[in-house]
Amino acid sequence: MNGASLLAPIAKRLAGKVAMITGGASGIGESTARLFAKHGAKVIIADIQDELGFSVCQDKSINGAISYVHCDVTSESDVQNAVNAVVSKHGKLDIMFNNAGYAGQSKANILAVEQKGYKRIFDVNVLGSFLGAKHAAKVMIPEKRGSILFTSSCATQSHGLVSHIYTASKHAVVGLTKNLCVELGQYGIRVNCISPHGVATPMFLKSMGIDKKKKAEEIISSAANLKGPVLEAEDLAEAALFLASEESKYVSGLNLVVDGGYSTTNIAFEQSIQKFFT
Ligand SMILES: NC(=O)c1ccc[n+]([C@@H]2O[C@H](COP(=O)([O-])OP(=O)(O)OC[C@H]3O[C@@H](n4cnc5c(N)ncnc54)[C@H](O)[C@@H]3O)[C@@H](O)[C@H]2O)c1
Repeated sequence: MNGASLLAPIAKRLAGKVAMITGGASGIGESTARLFAKHGAKVIIADIQDELGFSVCQDKSINGAISYVHCDVTSESDVQNAVNAVVSKHGKLDIMFNNAGYAGQSKANILAVEQKGYKRIFDVNVLGSFLGAKHAAKVMIPEKRGSILFTSSCATQSHGLVSHIYTASKHAVVGLTKNLCVELGQYGIRVNCISPHGVATPMFLKSMGIDKKKKAEEIISSAANLKGPVLEAEDLAEAALFLASEESKYVSGLNLVVDGGYSTTNIAFEQSIQKFFT
């Protein structure tokens, strides 16, 4: 490799694309918005945290590529207005990332679960994802192209880690991904989801009742299968970039699990043996 190619700028993998990201004011959505913008996309983040959302747009390094719209994903009119705002501003919508989520309390005994709590989790995670996909599909179908992404969870792979309702809602998101991939394939629209392992975002800290990011990362890492790297929001943004870009042009119906192999193993037996012999 010569010196000139070493210095060549990184190829922009989303040049000319327009993306909408729900839950883009914080955590995984925010990191994805920044990465998509770095790769040449115009990004609209849709969230209910207005101050945070606007602050992401102020970042000088992204050169005005990110804008914000207030949108509660549980309201169909909000979602429809947000998608319409994207199309009026940029003329199209290529990528829809339905990422907004709500976890409630991490663990709850089934007898303690109230219907109200159940409803909020399903409204944000399932209804919100469905509405985002529906209104994105409305503008993508006539164009005969597009990429719809969802954020599910590693709770679809390893069970008993988080609450019943959150787990069930994220399974529903995987079901939605696969069913939509079948209907929308005929229009050239790809539909995929990402299932992250624990990431120390505000939602994770709140649901686990942990006050410090560092502490959360230590807990996640000590239970991890893959030792060394710490899973960060930026890693999920990279997964979303792959699924949004042409590099995954024939990938649809995939649940991309980003858990460092955690769900491939169960260390309970090994731990029991170790306890037995010590
Ligand atoms: N952090 C983890 O460990 C983890 C693991 C697996 C899956 N996830 C999923 O990742 C996604 C992103 O979460 P995060 O970890 O980045 O948390 P986060 O708290 O940093 O971000 C979630 C965002 O969603 C927004 N949001 C919540 N309700 C909304 C609504 N009704 N309308 C619009 N926006 C709304 C919040 O305001 C927030 O900005 C969620 O779907 C979550 O379930 C997270």
